[in-house]
Amino acid sequence: MSIVNAKDMLLKATEEKYAVGAFNITNLIQMEAVVETAVEKKAPLIIQTSVTPSKFLNPKVLVAVYRTLAESAPIPICLHLDHCSDVEYCKQCADAGYTNIMIDASKQDFEENIRQTKQICDYCHGLGNISVEGELGTVSGVEDQVKVAEDEAALCDPEQALKFVDQTGVDIFAPAIGTAHGVYKTKDPKLDFDRLQKIAEMINGKQARIPLVIHGGTGLKPDVARKLVSLGGSKFNVSTDLKHALIDTTYDYISSHRDEYNPGKIDIAVKEGIKAKIEYWIDLLGSAGKA
Ligand code: 13P
Repeated sequence: MSIVNAKDMLLKATEEKYAVGAFNITNLIQMEAVVETAVEKKAPLIIQTSVTPSKFLNPKVLVAVYRTLAESAPIPICLHLDHCSDVEYCKQCADAGYTNIMIDASKQDFEENIRQTKQICDYCHGLGNISVEGELGTVSGVEDQVKVAEDEAALCDPEQALKFVDQTGVDIFAPAIGTAHGVYKTKDPKLDFDRLQKIAEMINGKQARIPLVIHGGTGLKPDVARKLVSLGGSKFNVSTDLKHALIDTTYDYISSHRDEYNPGKIDIAVKEGIKAKIEYWIDLLGSAGKA
C-alpha cells in the first residue's frame, strides 16, 4: 500500500475535497519527521525534494531511505522531484525510483513547455507507474534553483491549460494563480480564486480529470488554504515553513544548550519542530484519517 504514485491518491483527494500535504525536505531527519507524523495522523503523504538537496543527498540514497520508510508505513507515500527544469535530471530521478517528477518548463514559451513536459511524460510513463506534474504560468518567488521576479510572474490561462494537459499527457497540473514561493511580502496576497475555479471546471470536469496543485503554501492564512482546497487544489506544497522550523529549532536548541555536544539531541529537537508543523498542515488540509 505504501509506495504509490500521486495521481490516484490525488484523484481521491479531489473527490473527497481535501488536499494531500506535499512537504519539501532537505535532509533525512526531516524525511523521518514527515513520515512519522503522517503515520500518526493516518494521512496520505507526498515527500518532495527540490533539485539541490536531491543532488546533494544523491537520488539513489533518497529513494533507498524513502522505500525503507514507506514499505513499513501503513499509509500511501510518494517521493516527488520538485521544480526540475533539467530534462536529464528528471530522467535520472525517474530511473533512480522517484514515484513523481515535476518538469518545470514554465519559464519557456508555451510550445517549448509542452514539448519538454511531453518528453518527460513519455519517458516516465514508459518506465512504468511514475506520474508527472507540469506547470503553466509562473509562480513568483524563489524555490531552490527556480527564481521568478514578481513582475515576471504570469497567471495560467484556462484555455491554454486544457490544451497543455491534452497535448502533454501530464498527470498532475500546477496552474499559477497568484500564490508565491517563500515568505509573502503582503499580508493578503492577491490570489485569483475565480481562475482556479474555472481551471478546475475545465481540467477536473468532463473533458479531463487532472488533479491540481497549489504551490507556495507557506504563509497562506487558514481560511485561504481551505478555500483553495475547496476549489479543487488536491496537492498542497509547503517548503519554506519547514526550512524555518529546521533552522529555528536548531538555533534555539544550540542557543539554550551551549555545553551540549551530543548532535543526536539537536536531531530530536529538530524532528519535534518539524513534526509540529506537519501536524498543523495535515489538520488544515483535511487529510488526517484519509490514508
Ligand atoms: P513555499 O516555500 O512557499 O511553502 O512553497 C512551496 C512550494 O510550492 C514548493 O514547490
